[in-house]
Order: sequence, then structure tokens, then C-alpha cells
Amino acid sequence: MPAYDLVLRNGTLIDGSGEPRRIADVAIKGDRIAAIGAAGSLRGDNDIDVAGKAVAPGFVDVHTHDDTALIENPTMAMKASQGVTTVVCGNCGASAAPYVRRQDTPHFLSLIVKQDAFLSRTFAEFAGKVEAARPAINGAFLVGHSTLRLSVMGNDLERAARPDEVATMRDMLDGALTDGAIGLSSGLFYPPAMHATTDELAEIAQPLGKHKAVYTAHMRDEGNHIIKAMDETFEIGRRAGASIVVSHHKCSSRQNFGRMRETLPKFEAAAKDWPISFDVYPYVAGSTILRKEMIDRADKVLVTWSDAMPSASGRDLRDVAKELGCTPHEAADRLQPAGAIYFQMSEEDVQKALSHPMAMIGSDGLPLDKHPHPRLWGTFPRVLGHYSRDLKLFPLEDAVRRMTSTSAKNFGLAKRGLVREGYYADLCVFDPETVADTATFENPIAPATGIEMTICNGAPVWQAGKVTDRRPGQVLRLQALQQEVK
Ligand code: ZN
Ligand code: CU
Repeated sequence: MPAYDLVLRNGTLIDGSGEPRRIADVAIKGDRIAAIGAAGSLRGDNDIDVAGKAVAPGFVDVHTHDDTALIENPTMAMKASQGVTTVVCGNCGASAAPYVRRQDTPHFLSLIVKQDAFLSRTFAEFAGKVEAARPAINGAFLVGHSTLRLSVMGNDLERAARPDEVATMRDMLDGALTDGAIGLSSGLFYPPAMHATTDELAEIAQPLGKHKAVYTAHMRDEGNHIIKAMDETFEIGRRAGASIVVSHHKCSSRQNFGRMRETLPKFEAAAKDWPISFDVYPYVAGSTILRKEMIDRADKVLVTWSDAMPSASGRDLRDVAKELGCTPHEAADRLQPAGAIYFQMSEEDVQKALSHPMAMIGSDGLPLDKHPHPRLWGTFPRVLGHYSRDLKLFPLEDAVRRMTSTSAKNFGLAKRGLVREGYYADLCVFDPETVADTATFENPIAPATGIEMTICNGAPVWQAGKVTDRRPGQVLRLQALQQEVK
């Protein structure tokens, strides 16, 4: 009598711990991993021979802006096709909840919403919308500091928050964490938050300590003043009693190339007595809204979307400017609201960050962009294929660890990130010989090759090169996660 629903037989198990691969059977019952046995030893209602293929935990994309994509596009092909089974949303200060509606939808929130129907007054309400959409993969959600500011401070944003406003934002965060959000994110680099002081953030962040929640930061500066910005980030997290994740770590613009020599040892030193980590994406270009201040710091700027001039999507800003007969700065004004890709990092720095034992992998993909950065579809296969297999920067086992168990641990995603009995059956079956990203800056919407199957909560969501009709994704709530550990 088969005891299991599904058995992946004879696969090469890369279990997420970083330990060397071994040949094994993995059996699933319901939404859990029920057994791991010697090759050929387990039988299920459904057996799939995966000899020669790697069986790994489903990948955790720790840095996403998929908040409303989970609702609008619940098959989540851009992530399921990479082996991703959990996305951490609400990064960089932008979340869909808790949000108090205003007359306009601020440009900054275009990172995560094109229509504001998904913005929600409470996190509970928003989580309900995600669940009603039945996404294919799991979501965990941060509260964005900029979202709080936009809710509480009206259009008077070019100043630090007053004590009463700080108290209101702190209460909103506390309520959202009680409802199941897993932490706070900030984006001090961006206009709605850049006038916030360190004290403002540290005060708002206080509930994190009580809830044992995480603080993630798109830092105030990732260029000339990056060391100061790291100090500020560490201070905020420590004062709140929270673990800290520095988002999409980079040393931005030419004069700062090579400064991973300073930043990586600084991370190591800080991590000696505090839970601190960082994530990184495997590309030399970044992407966000189109900002004039960022143009001069980049070697090249590609337009990802523009409401004023939709035909500019995918084009070099310089060419668009030439056609309009103006400077790139003027063109940037005329394209608003708009988004862009900025080529602003050195390959050597990216490789150093990617190879660091503390580095988690996060895509920072922007799912609403018309011509998105290729990281949206390519991040995880690119690390496995290009950087681990082809360039041999680090072993496959280490790449998988930093996409799975390390990420789950740093974000408190209990019972995920390892192939272990009793853990959720979030799994990725891939071919180590062929796994590769195919998304490029020219043609960014393209599924990876070599991802054979993505299983979330026991159900296959990506198989034979396409999405299935299964939609087992869950909202991962803070209290439920903490309950799992006990
Ligand atoms: Zn960011
Ligand atoms: Cu981001």
C-alpha cells in the first residue's frame, strides 16, 4: 500500500543545509515532506523518477515587490518558473497595507500598484484579498515605512514626522504585526521617506522587538555615503531590538566600484553580536522609478515603463531624449510617471557580494513594469547556472543554501527552506547541467530553462515548462510561523 501521495525517486538531494548532495527518494503526503529514504526505497500513489536531477527546497525570494502580483496574477509564473515557492513582499518601504487612502495614489507606490483597489486599510484586510486570489506560491509581507508616512503625513512629507505622527505609525505597525505581517521595511533613499530621521525610524520600529519581527532596509545611500548608511541601518534595527536585513546590497556608481572591500567586512563584524544579513541580485544594473538624480550616476539608463510615453518602454533614455530633441534630464521629466533600469555596478563587486557566505538571493523584480529588469524572471536560475556552474564562484550546495534555509531562518519562515521530514513540501526539481536564465535586458519576459518542477505545499505549480492549475500558496503569518517553531 503506498503510504505517500507523491514520491520523487532517485534524485540528487541538495537539501538546503549546504551539506554535500546525495542520492535519495523524497516522499510527500498532503502539504508536508513525509519521508526521505534511500534511492528506490519509497513508493507513492504517484512516483516520478528524477534521476540526474537536483531536488532542492523551493527557493525563497527574500526581496520582492510582488504584493499585488499575487492577487492580479496568482499563477505567479515569473517566480514559479524559477523554482521560487515563497516571496517576501513589502520591501523598500512600499507595502499595500496598512494604508489610509488619499486623493491621489502617490507615484512611489507605483512600485507595487497600478490601480489602488488592492491597497488596504489593515493588513488583515489585505491578507484576505491575497487569500481570496488563491496564489500558486506563498507570500510573507513586510509593512512599508513609506506607506505609513503617505497614510499619516498627507502631502507634507519633506520633514521628519512629529511625535503624534510617529505614535500613529508605530501603532499601525503594531496592528499589522498582530495581524500577521512579518516585519518593517524602509526606503530612506526615496522621496516619501528621505526626510525621515534615524530617530523617526527607530521609534516607529519599536514594536518589532516585542513581536520578534525583522527590519529590512533599502538604505539612505548605496553610493558615496554607504558606510554611514550602514551605521544608520544597524542603529535602527538594534534600537528596535530587531534582526536586520540590508536589501539589494550594492556599491553604486563608478567612484564606488570596489568598495565591497569595505562593506563586506563591516557586515561580518556587525553580525558577530547581532542578527544581520543582506540580500543581493545577480546583475550589474538596478531598477526602480525613473529619477533624475539617478541618471548621472548610471552608465546607461533603460526606460521600463512610462505613462506619458508608453512607446519609450525598453528604450535607452538617451535615444528617447535625442528623438524628443531634449536632454536626458528633460526627457525624464516628460516621461513621468515612469520607471527605469540603471547600469550602475561593477561585475567584480556583484560577484563578491553574491559569493559571500552571508548573502541571500533576492530578485527585487518589478512585476508591473512593461519592460521589466530581467531579474524578475531570471534571478535564481542565473545564480545556479551562470554564477555557480559556469563561473564556479561557489558550489551549487552553497547557492541553494543561500536561496533556502538561510533565507527562511533570517525571515523566520519556520518549517521551510530545508528538505526534512515534517517540513512543508516546498520543492524545486532542476537539471544542474542545463539550468539557466534566458531573460535578457532586451527580451526580459522569458522563463528559465532547466527548472523541471516547482512544488508548493505538496502541489506541483510549475511542470513541463508551464504553470499548472494548482494554487496552494499561503499567506505566511508571523504568529503562525512562531507557533510552528514551538
Ligand atoms: Zn529597494
Ligand atoms: Cu526593492
